[in-house]
This record gives sequence, C-alpha cells and structure tokens, in this order.
Amino acid sequence: MVKVKVRSLLIFLSVCSLSMMTACARQGPHKPVATAAEEKSPSAGTKMSFTDVRPLFARHCTPCHTWNSDQPMAESKRDRIGAMVASKAMPKADPAKQVSITERERTIIQRWATGENGGTQTTVTEVGVVRDVNLALASRCFSCHGPQGTSGSADFPNLAGHDPAYIVGRLQYFMDPQARGTVMPAQMQALAKEFGLKAGDDAKTIATLTYLGDFFGRYRLSVTSDDTAALRKKLNAQDKLQYQNGKKLVSENQCLACHLQPDFTPTPMTPMIFAQKRGYLESRLAEFKGGQGGMTMPDIVKPLSESDLSAIALYLSLTHPADGLQ
Ligand code: HEC
Ligand code: HEC
Ligand code: HEC
Repeated sequence: MVKVKVRSLLIFLSVCSLSMMTACARQGPHKPVATAAEEKSPSAGTKMSFTDVRPLFARHCTPCHTWNSDQPMAESKRDRIGAMVASKAMPKADPAKQVSITERERTIIQRWATGENGGTQTTVTEVGVVRDVNLALASRCFSCHGPQGTSGSADFPNLAGHDPAYIVGRLQYFMDPQARGTVMPAQMQALAKEFGLKAGDDAKTIATLTYLGDFFGRYRLSVTSDDTAALRKKLNAQDKLQYQNGKKLVSENQCLACHLQPDFTPTPMTPMIFAQKRGYLESRLAEFKGGQGGMTMPDIVKPLSESDLSAIALYLSLTHPADGLQ
C-alpha cells in the first residue's frame, strides 16, 4: 500500500516538474500565480451572482468587512462596493496577507455590482450559473480552516504559510480511500465527488488543487507575535521549562533548515509548523513516530522521545514564525 502511495506522489512530482513549473514554484510575496482559472477574464455580459462574489469578499474584504456571508447587506451596498473596487480604493492592504486582488477578481466584483443579474443565491450544483468552480470549492474550506487560512478552532490546522505544493500533496493524499485523518479524508472524498475531481494526474484536478494550494498557502498567519507572546506569559512554571526544552530540541535537530527560511517561508513541499495548533502538531509527530504520515519526517523523529515531541509541539504552537529564527 505504502509503495502505491509513494508511486502516485512521484507521478505527481514529475507532472509538477514537467508541465507545471510556474504553478508549482514558490512565488514571492505579492506575485499572484496565474492559475488556469485566472488566465481568462469573464467575458462581457456574463452575469455574476452573490455566490460568485462571496468567496472574493471572504478572501479580500475579511476581516475588515463582514459581507462575506450576508447577501442582503452586501446587496444593499452594491453601488458603493462596485465604486470602491473599480477605483482601487478597496481592498485596503491587509498586512496579514501575501495575496493581492487580481484584475480578474476585480472584474467579477464589478460585474456583480452593476447588477447584471437578479442577485439570486445559487448553488454549486447549478454549474451553468456558477462560473468559478475553484472559488466555490475554496469557500467550502472556510468553516474549518478560516477564509484566510488561519483556523479559528483548536481542532483544525492552519493552512496559511504552508508551501502551496505541500497543500496540493496533502489534498491528493486525502482523496485516497486509504488516507488517515479524523475529518479530511471524508471531506475531500465527498468534495471530489461533488466537484468532479479525479485521483492520479488528471490535469483539471491538479489545476484545481493547485488553485487551493495558492489560495490558502499564500496568506500569512493572522496570529501575530504579540498573540503568541501573550499566550506564553500564561504558561505555568513547568510548561515554561518544556517550552525552553522544545526550543533547544528544534535548534539542535535543525528543523528550521526545511521549515523556516530567512523570509519566514518553508522550503518547497514543506509545511509551516510555527503557530500551528498544538493538538494537531502532537498528533502529526506521533504519526511520524509510528513510521507513518510522510516520507521525510519518520526518520527525523526516530531518535526523539515522546516527551521530546510533546515539548516540541508546545514550543512550535506558541512561537510565531517571525520569532522562530531567534
Ligand atoms: C484592511 C482592511 C480593509 C480591507 C481588507 C477592505 N476594506 Fe473596505 N474599508 C476599510 C476601512 C477602514 C473603510 C472606511 C474608511 C475608508 O474609506 O478608509 C472601508 C470602507 C469601505 C467602503 C465604504 C464604506 C461602506 O461600508 O459602504 C466600501 C464599499 C468598502 N470598504 C469595500 C471593500 C471591499 C469590496 C473590500 C474587498 C474587496 C474591502 N473594502 C476590503 C478597510 C478595509
Ligand atoms: C469539517 C472541517 C474541515 C473542512 C470543511 C476542511 N478541512 Fe482540511 N482539515 C480538517 C482537519 C480536522 C484536518 C486534520 C487532519 C484530519 O484529522 O483529518 C485537516 C487537514 C487539512 C490539511 C493538512 C494540513 C497540514 O498541515 O498538513 C489540508 C492541506 C487541508 N485540510 C485542506 C483543506 C481544504 C483545501 C479544504 C476545502 C476543500 C478543507 N481542508 C476542508 C478539517 C476540515
Ligand atoms: C529535510 C527536511 C526536514 C527537516 C530537517 C524537518 N522536517 Fe518536518 N517536514 C518535512 C516534510 C517534507 C514534511 C511533510 C511530511 C513528510 O514528507 O515527512 C514535514 C512535516 C512536518 C510536520 C507536520 C506538519 C503538518 O502541518 O502536518 C511537523 C510537525 C514537522 N515536520 C516538524 C519537524 C520538526 C520538529 C523537525 C526537527 C526535529 C523537522 N520537522 C525537521 C521536512 C523536514
């Protein structure tokens, strides 16, 4: 079984290196990746519904405004939203993001604002009505992972800051019926059915997963270093020692070599591990300790004890990437 998975990842990697060089390469800040979906602007006269703009509001207008889920409120502001977006006065720059709005996204919002449609709430299954299936799919992840990739719940991991190609690999993995996980395998397999995603190297599926990787990975965490510092202050004396121990272990084991570069991004195909949810880190490290969960990490954690791993999880969860290099 493991062999089969390794092979499908290798196929994915070679697809990546042959035909998707630009999409798979790590992009610097403020350089939107032109995914297949972004290349074409919607043609003139295409009617836009609230379903088309809702994920764009969540992506570019949250957390400063709250129209992302409130159709009547958004519709009552149509004119002003259209004017603000057309004049480029909005969206205001958000320091938590590395993602800027694209011209195509501006066009979609403007089309909606000029009211070329009845403003009806549509569903993804009406594929003829919803033009951007990728955006519709991304909006299905918000409830657990947050609209900008920082999750609001202790049970769901952050996606912000991960290398986009790492997210793609994980999503492909979760589509495998043998995948391990409490929530994602069932989620991904149901979404794959609904959105027509296929296993293996189906080009349309890889384009969609690449879109999701870029969408979530290229946000910065909205947790700040003040937030993590405040949480550390609340630790009891024993946990403070654990925290220091975790810090020492991370430095001695050269975890940063792969997980944090000087620009605070991880190396290609690697997750952001700082300010990640503690319970999630613990369960992943335990998975690696059991020889599963990845191709690189099981060997790395082999010499570490269970109490080492729990100190590491505590340290990582309460350290912002900006403080991780110190
Ligand atoms: C980083 C925060 C931030 C982001 C992101 C942001 N805005 Fe704003 N927006 C503001 C602030 C602050 C004001 C009020 C004062 C001003 O105009 O500077 C405002 C005002 C507005 C107004 C006029 C007031 C109103 O509510 O009618 C509109 C319309 C608007 N924004 C639309 C948008 C849209 C659409 C987006 C996303 C595409 C967006 N904004 C993203 C901060 C933001
Ligand atoms: C109902 C909640 C829920 C929804 C909806 C959901 N996820 Fe997840 N996600 C989780 C949980 C929980 C995990 C941890 C793995 C597990 O236990 O299944 C996870 C893990 C992940 C991971 C691995 C993170 C890592 O650090 O390795 C990725 C990537 C991911 N989800 C992406 C997505 C995307 C993209 C969507 C939308 C298409 C999505 N998720 C929808 C709950 C959810
Ligand atoms: C040689 C590069 C490399 C080094 C060194 C490394 N990692 Fe990793 N890490 C990875 C890769 C690649 C993954 C993805 C899983 C895999 O393939 O093993 C990963 C995954 C993880 C995850 C899972 C995160 C998630 O979101 O699911 C954690 C936690 C982690 N590493 C912690 C560490 C710690 C702690 C150290 C040091 C003891 C370390 N890593 C050293 C490459 C590395």
